[in-house]
Amino acid sequence: MKITIIGTGYVGLVTGACLAELGNDVFCLDVDQRKIDMLNEGGIPIHEPGLEEVVARNRAAGRLRFSTDVAASVAHGQLQFIAVGTPPDEDGSADLQYVLAAARNIGRHMDGFKVVVDKSTVPVGTADRVSAAIKEELAARGAQTEFTVVSNPEFLKEGAAVEDFMRPDRIVIGHDSSANGQRARELMKLLYAPFNRNHERSFWMDVRSAEFTKYAANAMLATRISFMNELANLADKVGADIEAVRHGIGSDPRIGHSFLYAGAGYGGSCFPKDVQAIERTARQYGQDLLILSAVEAVNERQKHVLGRKVVARFGEDLAGKRFAVWGLAFKPNTDDMREAPSRVLLQELIARGASVAVYDPVAMPEARRVLELDLGADKLSRIEFKDAPMEALDGAEALVIVTEWKAFRSPDFEQLKARLKQPVVIDGRNLYEPAQMTGLGIEYHGIGRSVLTSK
Ligand code: UDX
Repeated sequence: MKITIIGTGYVGLVTGACLAELGNDVFCLDVDQRKIDMLNEGGIPIHEPGLEEVVARNRAAGRLRFSTDVAASVAHGQLQFIAVGTPPDEDGSADLQYVLAAARNIGRHMDGFKVVVDKSTVPVGTADRVSAAIKEELAARGAQTEFTVVSNPEFLKEGAAVEDFMRPDRIVIGHDSSANGQRARELMKLLYAPFNRNHERSFWMDVRSAEFTKYAANAMLATRISFMNELANLADKVGADIEAVRHGIGSDPRIGHSFLYAGAGYGGSCFPKDVQAIERTARQYGQDLLILSAVEAVNERQKHVLGRKVVARFGEDLAGKRFAVWGLAFKPNTDDMREAPSRVLLQELIARGASVAVYDPVAMPEARRVLELDLGADKLSRIEFKDAPMEALDGAEALVIVTEWKAFRSPDFEQLKARLKQPVVIDGRNLYEPAQMTGLGIEYHGIGRSVLTSK
């Protein structure tokens, strides 16, 4: 099928590359000339496992093209995917300017029936606004061309996005009941047929329910995390082990094991933004989402948990003290620093006068960029970026772990002890067993694991 993807950010690029991999003829459009040049020269603007190979293979096969040419791109696809960003604006609602600009471009240049697919995460009702914007552009040039808008939210996890796209657990598609809506359904069915061979993974619904499903999924997942973080903080106080509790409750099939990991708070481009956006939508309809307000507040507080643990152990004044930090990205297998808990920790350590040595397997260039914005060049100079995890430890009072990269799971503990000034590990992702650490002579502070923590 002929497909146009508008927006070559994280979602657009993965969607475009994976749809080309299935044999479709894909045209990716972006307004950012530098990004398009980079892609046309074989570069990839983000770190995402497997993506580079899929892009290279499909570019070489001529099935995946990148362009800034709006007219040619819109003319290409029967399906027009809108996959541009929806950043939060000042009041937390999703900023739709890029989505609506994409819709206008489609309206300006389309010359035959198009199915416009909303892939971006957008508030309920956005498909109607997309439709209205396209109609306005068509009317402005006196065109009668038919189209329909469907909602097809993505459920990709950063760091596993190619895998998630290629092996989806569900495909949610919302369309209307008009003849064009039915026509769109047939085309979408054809597009996703490769994933539905063995069993049907598509869920067909009305457009608003599809838009809502995306927010509901992220809100539910964020709720589980904040819930576990709150319990973990209490476990620390009462002397229970949140990891034992996690196994104990997760084995109930009604609860399940996934997404029950206490930690240093959730970050990334989706959960923080989507929780805020759905709260905002609710307020517009005169409803307070009490649970989600608490989910957000707990998460903001949780991003300070590591700073709190450092202060509890080393005091308020950290002047002249040095700390090692492992992991900067908001989660493993990505270089994404958006809303990363490491940013909150580093700000706090630096504000208290400490110096820091950091290591992250892939996020250091991006971290340097955002930390300069957070801290300013002057304070950034108190952070040393190291080439290897062990190098960050030399002379540090303690190691603080923020992101659970695989490479941190089984370090050489003897070397770790020898290089730190004193053997203290503050672990924001519960990577190690407290009993094992005590046995090794390491003072270990996890999240909600105080039952065995040596004090
Ligand atoms: C999420 C959704 O999972 C995905 O379906 C949606 O399309 C986009 O948002 P992503 O933000 O890439 O994906 O990451 P995810 O793996 O879901 O993790 C989000 C955050 O929650 C991370 O900061 C992670 O560290 C944290 N997390 C996750 C926990 O703290 N505990 C958990 O148990 C799981």
